[in-house]
Amino acid sequence: MRSVPFWIDSAPIKRFPYLERNVKVDIVVVGAGITGITTAHLLKETGLTVALIERERVASIDTGHTTAHLTCITDVELQELARTFGDDHAQAAWDAGAAAIDEIQRLVQKEQIECEFTRVPAYVHVYGHSFSQKEISRLKKEASLAAKLGFDATYLESVPYFNLPGVRYPNQAKFHPRKYLRALAGKVPGNGSHVFEKSAASEFDAKKLRVKVNRSWINFDRVIMATNNPLVGLTHVTAATLLQTKLSLYTSYVFGARVPSGTVPEALFWDTRDPYDYLRVDRRRGFDYLIYGGEDHKTGQKNQTEKAYARLRARLKKIIPKARVDYRWSGQVICTPDGLPYIGENAERQFIATGYCGNGITFGTIAAIMARDWATERTNPWTDVFAVDRKKIKGATWNYLRENKDYPYYMVKDRVTRPEADSVRELKRGEGMLIGSRGKKCAAFRDRNGKIYKLSPVCTHLGCLVRWNSAESTWDCPCHGSRFKATGEVMAGPAEERLSPV
Ligand SMILES: Cc1cc2nc3c(=O)[nH]c(=O)nc-3n(C[C@H](O)[C@H](O)[C@H](O)COP(=O)(O)OP(=O)(O)OC[C@H]3O[C@@H](n4cnc5c(N)ncnc54)[C@H](O)[C@@H]3O)c2cc1C
Ligand code: FES
Repeated sequence: MRSVPFWIDSAPIKRFPYLERNVKVDIVVVGAGITGITTAHLLKETGLTVALIERERVASIDTGHTTAHLTCITDVELQELARTFGDDHAQAAWDAGAAAIDEIQRLVQKEQIECEFTRVPAYVHVYGHSFSQKEISRLKKEASLAAKLGFDATYLESVPYFNLPGVRYPNQAKFHPRKYLRALAGKVPGNGSHVFEKSAASEFDAKKLRVKVNRSWINFDRVIMATNNPLVGLTHVTAATLLQTKLSLYTSYVFGARVPSGTVPEALFWDTRDPYDYLRVDRRRGFDYLIYGGEDHKTGQKNQTEKAYARLRARLKKIIPKARVDYRWSGQVICTPDGLPYIGENAERQFIATGYCGNGITFGTIAAIMARDWATERTNPWTDVFAVDRKKIKGATWNYLRENKDYPYYMVKDRVTRPEADSVRELKRGEGMLIGSRGKKCAAFRDRNGKIYKLSPVCTHLGCLVRWNSAESTWDCPCHGSRFKATGEVMAGPAEERLSPV
C-alpha cells in the first residue's frame, strides 16, 4: 500500500522556479493550494501582475491530501446555520458552495482542463440500522429547510447502496484536484506574473510593502494569505494570535481502494455521525475507485494514530467487502466555532482566507473570487457573512473559553508528564519519541539510516509540547494543531518557525 495521496501519485506537476532575485508585482499570493492557485489565476485574468509563492510544492499540502467532494452542503447542518445566522445568511453560505462549483466548471470549460469534472448526486445518510426516530426527523427537517431556501433536496427512505434513510442532493460534483490545479497554475507565469516553489514568505515589511523570500524581496501593493492557517503578515501579532486561537485543527484519515465496476453508484456519500465517514466513487476503465475517509480528531491529541487507520479500514471492509485498498493518507482541516470560514481583509492591504472545515475546495474557490473582488475593489455578496471580524451576525457568540480549553490543559499536562524514554538508545529507525528527564525533554527522531535528530519539543507558536505522530512520522502540536516534519521544519501553521535543534 502507498502512503501518499492518490492525487499526488496520479498527477505529477512540473517544478516551478525558486525565487532568487527581487521582484515587483501588484499582488503577492502566499500559499499555492486551491485558494492561492485559483486566486492567482483569477487575478491574472483581470490584468493585474501576481507572484504566487509556495513554501513546498504547489497543490501538495492540504489540497494534495483532500478528497475533493464539490458540494454546497456544509459540515454544520443548514438548520444550525439558520439558527445561528438566520435563514438569509445560511442560504448565502450554501449559495457560496453552489457558486464555487459553477466557477470550477466555468474554468474547466474555458481552459479546456481534463480533470474528470463530473456532476454527481450527494447523499447524507444515517450510519447503520440502529438509528432513532429523532435522526430521521432531523434529516426530514434538513431536506425541507434546504428546499425552502431554494436548494434541490429530497428525503429518501432508502439511499442507494446503503439502503438507509437519508437526503439526496443532486447536481453536486467531483474532480481530480491536482489535474485541475496544475492546469490553472501553469497559466499564471508570464507577462509580469510568476509562480515560485520552495519559496516561503519569511518576513513582512509593512512600511515598504514587501516580503522576504529566500534572500530576495518581493514588493507588492496588496497581499493575499492563502496559507490555510494565516501568517501574521502585515497585522499585529496579538490580533493574529487571537484569530489563530479561534481555529481548531483536525486530522482526517483516508483510504483509496479499487472495486469491481458498478459495485456502488458514482456519487458522494457521508453519514450523520460526528465525526462522519465520507465516500466518493469514481468510474474508471475496468474498475471503480473508492475514496473513503473519516476518524477525524483534533491534531496532536491522539497518541496511536495507526489505530485510526485500522478502525477506518475495518469499517470500509464491512460496508464494501470487495474494496481492495491500495492508498492511504491523512491531512488537516481547519474549523471555526460557528461553522463558517473567515474570508476577508484583516489588515490594511492584507486579505486572509481560513476555517473552511471539510468544504475547503468549494470555500477556497469562493475565497479566490472574493480576493479578486477585494483586489479590484468590486463588491462581493459574501463579504459580511464570511467577515473575519464577525462577532455575531445573529445570535452567534464566540465562546473563547470553550474553544481554547485544550490550550492551558495541554500546556500544563505535557510539561509534567514523564517523557516516553530516557535515552535515544530506545529509538528504532524511522521512529520519534520525547526523551530525557521530566524538566528537560527533547524530541528525538532516528531516520532510516540511523542518524539521530534532536529537537526542542517546544512548539514555536505558543509553547505547548509537540507529540510524535507515528502514522505520518511528524511532530504534531495538541494545542492549535501545528505540524512539523520529523526533522523539525514547519509543515503546517499556525507556527511559522521550525523546531529548534538541540
Ligand atoms: C482528508 C481531507 C479530506 C478533505 N475533503 C474535502 C472535500 O471532500 N471537499 C472539500 O471541499 N474540502 C475537503 N477538504 C478540505 C480542503 O482540502 C482544504 O480545506 C483545502 O484544500 C485548503 O486549501 P488551501 O489552498 O486553503 O490550503 P493548502 O492546500 O494547505 O495550501 C496552503 C499552502 O500554503 C503554503 N504555505 C504555508 N506557509 C507558507 C509560507 N510562509 N510561505 C509560502 N507558502 C506557505 C503551504 O505549503 C500550502 O501549500 C479535505 C481535507 C482533508 C485533509
Ligand atoms: S500550535 Fe499553538 S502552541 Fe503549538
